Amino acid sequence: MTDAFAIRFITEEDGRPLRWTYLRPGMPKGGSIYQAPDSLHVGVFAGDALIGSVSFLLEDQTGGVTAGVWRLRGMITHPDWRGRDAGGRALEFGVAELARRGAGQVWCDGRSRALPFYRRHGFHAVGAEFETPGTGPHYRLIRPLVGEIPTPLAGAPEELP
Ligand SMILES: CC(C)(COP(=O)(O)OP(=O)(O)OC[C@H]1O[C@@H](n2cnc3c(N)ncnc32)[C@H](O)[C@@H]1OP(=O)(O)O)[C@@H](O)C(=O)NCCC(=O)NCCS
Repeated sequence: MTDAFAIRFITEEDGRPLRWTYLRPGMPKGGSIYQAPDSLHVGVFAGDALIGSVSFLLEDQTGGVTAGVWRLRGMITHPDWRGRDAGGRALEFGVAELARRGAGQVWCDGRSRALPFYRRHGFHAVGAEFETPGTGPHYRLIRPLVGEIPTPLAGAPEELP
């Protein structure tokens, strides 16, 4: 059964308490601030409680801005709510909006522990695993979005399903 989460856009500030408490526990508050020339932030709610969030920033892999290239950051579900697809639905909600805006790629530095989650959502790892101080092993992960919007299949009409 699917939990009846509500998923909607939130502000960057709305997601900070969740990130500060559960994404980098024990690390100084004030990090995980995800502002960019263009960004969007998705929240998952159980009733009135924000139990998950994810942010997408218009930022390419060099830290600059390239049209259509978005960085995913701050992927977090409250520990009591993990494993119920809240994170996955938040991610897909954001990606759907990026696809609607014509984005071509979403990338992130994903924790190695979350690799199965990202793979399930269409990301693939590029390069070797690397260590980030304080948050452990990561992979650079990319999900191409071109072609996410269904297009007619190539081939003669009689070959189409
Ligand atoms: C990764 C995370 C956001 C997924 O959220 P979720 O609401 O549990 O998402 P889903 O139910 O859609 O997916 C569950 C999957 O998350 C992954 N996962 C579960 N617990 C996890 C944890 N503590 N850390 C990382 N990934 C975890 C598993 O791959 C799991 O898949 P499985 O059920 O096949 O084992 C959530 O586990 C989390 O907040 N983890 C801690 C913070 C983190 O690692 N964020 C990613 C930073 S790059």
